[in-house]
Amino acid sequence: MRRMPRPEPAVSSAEPPRDCPLCPRLVAYRQVNREAHPDWWNGPAPSFGDPTARLAVVGLAPGRMGANRTGRPFTGDFAGVLLFETLIKQGFAQGSYEARPDDGLKLVDCLITNAVRCAPPGNKPETSEENTCRPFLTARLDQLPNLKVIVTLGDVSRRNVLKALGLKASAGVGGHGSEFQAGPYRVINSYHCSRLNTNTGRLTPQMFEDIFIRARELLTD
Ligand code: URA
Repeated sequence: MRRMPRPEPAVSSAEPPRDCPLCPRLVAYRQVNREAHPDWWNGPAPSFGDPTARLAVVGLAPGRMGANRTGRPFTGDFAGVLLFETLIKQGFAQGSYEARPDDGLKLVDCLITNAVRCAPPGNKPETSEENTCRPFLTARLDQLPNLKVIVTLGDVSRRNVLKALGLKASAGVGGHGSEFQAGPYRVINSYHCSRLNTNTGRLTPQMFEDIFIRARELLTD
């Protein structure tokens, strides 16, 4: 007897392929960058860190000269200096951050990913690109078996994390240090550690460190 074909399982990849074709504007931008800088990564920046992490840090999207160039989230970006130094201070990373993907830095109980995996022009993803990329974020969070705490960097990250978890974007309040439960996870919201926020004093190193002190507290409770 002929067997009925089985339905294909839903694609549940946590990482887009190197030549992900899903967002035409981002693909065109990638192509421009590849032509100008064939030695850069110029693809979706894979999540970085510990696959058994209890803490996930979710950024916005790779910077053109940062993760888009180096292939590691926040690496080579202005924002990476404060992020990695803070993670080292709070024991979520070991080694030294040297803005290169081969600097040997190791994340400890922590994984960094982005709401949108490809560099967007002007660092601003469109809403349609956030929507298209979100299944990767959902899969990324789902595939962290020990995940307990999520730090969202900025409003785009917070809204995308909530939606990735099947909640409304309004289900958790914004603002630096706001905290809420999203399904099984505790979410701590931080201002993004961008050049703009740090140079204007909107986000100080201490304010940023306090977020990870709180994450540590939640993980030791
Ligand atoms: N680099 C990233 O990878 N993500 C951000 O949100 C900012 C810079």
